[in-house]
Amino acid sequence: MLSRKMAKSRSFLIGILVLSCWTAIANAERMIYKDPKIPINHRIKDLMNRMTLEEKIGQMTQIDRSVASTEVMKKYYIGSVLSGGGSVPAPQASAETWVDMVNDFQKGSLSTRLGIPMIYGIDAVHGNNNVYNATIFPHNIGLGATRDPVLVKKIGAATALEVRATGITYAFAPCIAVCRDPRWGRCYESYSEDPAIVQAMTELVPGLQGDLPANSRKGVPYVGGKEKVLACAKHFVGDGGTTKGINENNTVTNWHRLLNIHMPAYYDTIIKGVSTVMVSYSSWNGVKMHANRELVTGFLKNKLRFRGFVISDWQGLDRITSPPHANYTYSILEGVDAGIDMLMIPYNYTEFIDGLTFLVKNNFIPMSRIDDAVKRILRVKFMMGLFENPLADYSMTKYLGSQEHRELAREAVRRTLVLLKNGGSSDKALIPLSKKSPKILVAGTHADNIGNQCGGWTIQWQGQTGNITVGTTILTAIKNTVDPKTEVVFTENPDAGYVKSNNFSYAIVVVGEPPYSETNGDSLNLTLPDPGPSIITNVCGSVKCVVVLITGRPVVIQPYLDQIDALVAAWLPGTEGQGVADVLFGDYGFSGKLSRTWFKTVDQLPMNVGDQHYDPLFPFGYGLTTEPTKAY
Ligand code: BGC
Ligand code: BGC
Repeated sequence: MLSRKMAKSRSFLIGILVLSCWTAIANAERMIYKDPKIPINHRIKDLMNRMTLEEKIGQMTQIDRSVASTEVMKKYYIGSVLSGGGSVPAPQASAETWVDMVNDFQKGSLSTRLGIPMIYGIDAVHGNNNVYNATIFPHNIGLGATRDPVLVKKIGAATALEVRATGITYAFAPCIAVCRDPRWGRCYESYSEDPAIVQAMTELVPGLQGDLPANSRKGVPYVGGKEKVLACAKHFVGDGGTTKGINENNTVTNWHRLLNIHMPAYYDTIIKGVSTVMVSYSSWNGVKMHANRELVTGFLKNKLRFRGFVISDWQGLDRITSPPHANYTYSILEGVDAGIDMLMIPYNYTEFIDGLTFLVKNNFIPMSRIDDAVKRILRVKFMMGLFENPLADYSMTKYLGSQEHRELAREAVRRTLVLLKNGGSSDKALIPLSKKSPKILVAGTHADNIGNQCGGWTIQWQGQTGNITVGTTILTAIKNTVDPKTEVVFTENPDAGYVKSNNFSYAIVVVGEPPYSETNGDSLNLTLPDPGPSIITNVCGSVKCVVVLITGRPVVIQPYLDQIDALVAAWLPGTEGQGVADVLFGDYGFSGKLSRTWFKTVDQLPMNVGDQHYDPLFPFGYGLTTEPTKAY
C-alpha cells in the first residue's frame, strides 16, 4: 500500500520533472539571443521580438551614475549609465571601488526579465581622466603637434586598459572637432585646425577599440575583446566652426566647407569601425544638430552607412529649445526623429521615458524609428561580447596609472612641445639648458601644480588647480634632471629686485591658463591671465629666461616676446611633467610643430592656414628643432 502510493507519487514527480525539463529545453532553444554561436543579426531579431515598448525605450536611455542604482536599472530597463565630468563613486576612489559600482548597476540590468546588460560610458578624453591615479595624457592640441598617429594609437590602447581597469566599457572619445577659432573653450580638445591632421589622429579609434580584422566589413562597429572599449566620434558635426568660437553656438558655412573641413574625420572613424557618434550641441546654419534629420539620418546613417549608434550630448535634448527644457516633449520628438538612438538624459529619465512612450503610443514617432535605435544599440552590445562578459573583475585594476602608461605619457609630452623661440638673432641659443649651473630660478603659477598642467576634464569636469592627482610637476621634473649640485630655487611670483640680486644662472618661468572646460573656457581676448604677464616681466627683465606656456591654445604673447629669451608651448601636458624637463635639458630634442596658427592679435581671428589674409606670429607647422645632447 505504502509502496504503491510511493511508486505512484514517484511517477507523478518524474512526470513533472520531464515536463519541466522539456519546457526548459524548449525555452533554452528559443533563447537564441543568448547563444554566442548564433550570428548577431539573428540574436538581435530574436531579442527584439521579445521586447516590450518599455524595454526598448529603456535601452535608449542613458542616465548619470548619481541617479542610478540596482533598482533603477531594473525598474526602467536602463540601457546605459555614464559618469559625467567629475561624477565619481567617491573622491579618490580606487579602481576596485569603480569596478564594484559598475557591477552593482550591471547586476540590476542582468536581473531584468531579458537580462540585457548595460554599457557604462565615461569621458576618457586624455586618459581615464575622472579617475584618481589614472595616467593623464596630453590634451589633443598637443598630440596634434606630434604629427604622430602611431603614438596616438598607443595612447588609445593604454586608455582602453585604464578604462577597463575601472570596469568601464565605453569612452566618449575621440573628439574630432576641427577647431577653427582658438577663442573656443574646447579648442584643446581638437587635434588641429587642419582637417588632415584630425583625420590622421583618428588612429585613437583603433587604439581604443582594436583593429578591424582584415576580413571584416568596413564601417561596422567593432570592439576587439575585453581589453578594448567602445569609442565615440564627437561632436557631429561642425562643433569647431562656431562664430567667434562661442561654445554650442552656430556654425555658419556652406555645404562644401562643412564637408571639407568638419566632415572628413567622420569618414575615417567610420571606416575604422567607430561604434558610436555623439551629436553636437551646436547648430549648422541655424539648425540645431540635435534636430537635424538630414545630417544625422540622411547623411551619417544613410549616406555614410554608419552602423553603430548615435548618442545625444548631455541634456542635448533640453538644449534643442531656448531656454533649455522649454518644451521637453517637442525636444524628444525632434531629437529621436532626427535619428538619435541613445539619449544622454542624464537626470530626469522618467520624464524622458514618459514623454517618449507618449509620443510612440500616439504615433508621433513610428515604431520603426524605435526599432532602428534599439537594433543599433543591441548590435553594439552583442558585438562587443557584453552578453557573454557583462561583469568586470579586478584583474585589470593593475593597469590604472601603471608605470608603463606613465612612460608612454612622458614620451608623448616630449613630442608635444613646440619650441617657438630660442635666443635672438644675435645671442646664443638658451636651450638645451645647462644641467650644471650653480643656481637656477623656477617661477610661475604652473611650475608646481599638477591640476594646472592637466587642464580641464581632469578629476573634475572643469579640472582643478592644485595637487589633485598623482603625477610629476614640472618643478619636480627639473629637480630630478639637473646636477645634484645645482641649487633649484622656486618662487612662484618673485619681484624683479629679488631676481636681480640672487645671481641665478637663468630662470624657467612656467605660466598659463587656469583649468577650464567647455563654455567656461570661451575667451574673446585670449590674454594670458594674471599674474602670468607680471611674472614674465619681473623674471625675464632681470635674468636670462625660458618661458614655458601651459595653455589650451595660442594666447596673446607678442607683447612679451622681446623680453623672453626662449619660448616653449607645452599645451596641457597631463600628469607626466618629466617629459618637459627631458626636452628642456636636452636629453631629447624638440620636434613638435604647431597644429594651429599662432595669431598676433585677436582681431585677426578667425585665421587659419590657407586663409587669404594669413599674417601669423608663428605659422601653422612652425617649430624649432634641437638635437639631443645625450644619445639614446
Ligand atoms: C560634452 C561631451 C561629453 C558629455 C558627457 C558634454 O557636456 O559636450 O563632450 O561627452 O558632456 O560628459
Ligand atoms: C557634467 C559634464 C557635462 C556638463 C554639460 C556637467 O555637470 O558633469 O559631464 O559635460 O555638465 O553641461
